Amino acid sequence: MSDFYNKKDDNSNIDMLRKKLKPKDRLILSLDVANRFEAMEVLKKTDGSISTIKVGLELIYNEGLGIVDIVKKSGYKVMLDAKLMDIPNTIAGALRGISKLDISMITIHTFGGASMLKNADETLSEIYRQKHKNKPLLFGVTVLTSLDDGDLEKFGFNLKFTELVLKMAKIAISNNMDGIICSPNEVRFLRENFGYDFFIATPGIRLAEDNIGDQKRINTPEKAIKDGSDFIIVGRSIIESTDIKGRINLYLEKIERELLNDKNS
Ligand code: C5P
Repeated sequence: MSDFYNKKDDNSNIDMLRKKLKPKDRLILSLDVANRFEAMEVLKKTDGSISTIKVGLELIYNEGLGIVDIVKKSGYKVMLDAKLMDIPNTIAGALRGISKLDISMITIHTFGGASMLKNADETLSEIYRQKHKNKPLLFGVTVLTSLDDGDLEKFGFNLKFTELVLKMAKIAISNNMDGIICSPNEVRFLRENFGYDFFIATPGIRLAEDNIGDQKRINTPEKAIKDGSDFIIVGRSIIESTDIKGRINLYLEKIERELLNDKNS
């Protein structure tokens, strides 16, 4: 398994890390299932074809955090989709607990604000400095991919979601987040404005034949990668397939083809 996460202290060069990413590192499977038995079934079918599994609220609240160890013992890195948001002191405390889990990526809501993000990064950095280990990558969630302009209007926001995602991404990046989470539709805009010195991970991924479900800001894996997404996060499009391994391979082929196109263009 490639060691692509290894961030050398705070001086790491994201671009260098990005160059090490293989297609199997770029596809993150969202293990949104109801219990550990279903989780194990999916992991068996996944069969080491990808590096990272995203464990999110559904599995955490149904199985407890012990599920993280099960996933790791099956040979995968873990993105803990904790979607942390609270006052800075509470989030720092939560991160002290999470740091015992030895995971690779953590999500945190940018809406928690600059102080919360900054404190989260400092807390994690200090813990991992003491452990002499690389700290997990912190990803700031910008605006959920299940929300659109209509939702923002109801919140009272007087701006389009692309502008809001841009503002959120700026807060995340300037407070030392290693990456941000946004929809594939915003990646190009973000890269044009802020460059490449941070990771982007995109949920809201669908193939043409898929059901959209509850997501609103969706696009294809090709579009996400072409526009500069580093990681695509896919749940139902793979989990609900009768041929999980075949579906993963299809995604990997699409990612590989897009990366090659990019190199040749
Ligand atoms: O099944 P689907 O591919 O839509 O799942 C997407 C996954 O990504 C879900 O686990 C969801 O919680 C997560 N996610 C998201 N939008 C965000 C952040 C995370 O859909 N902004």
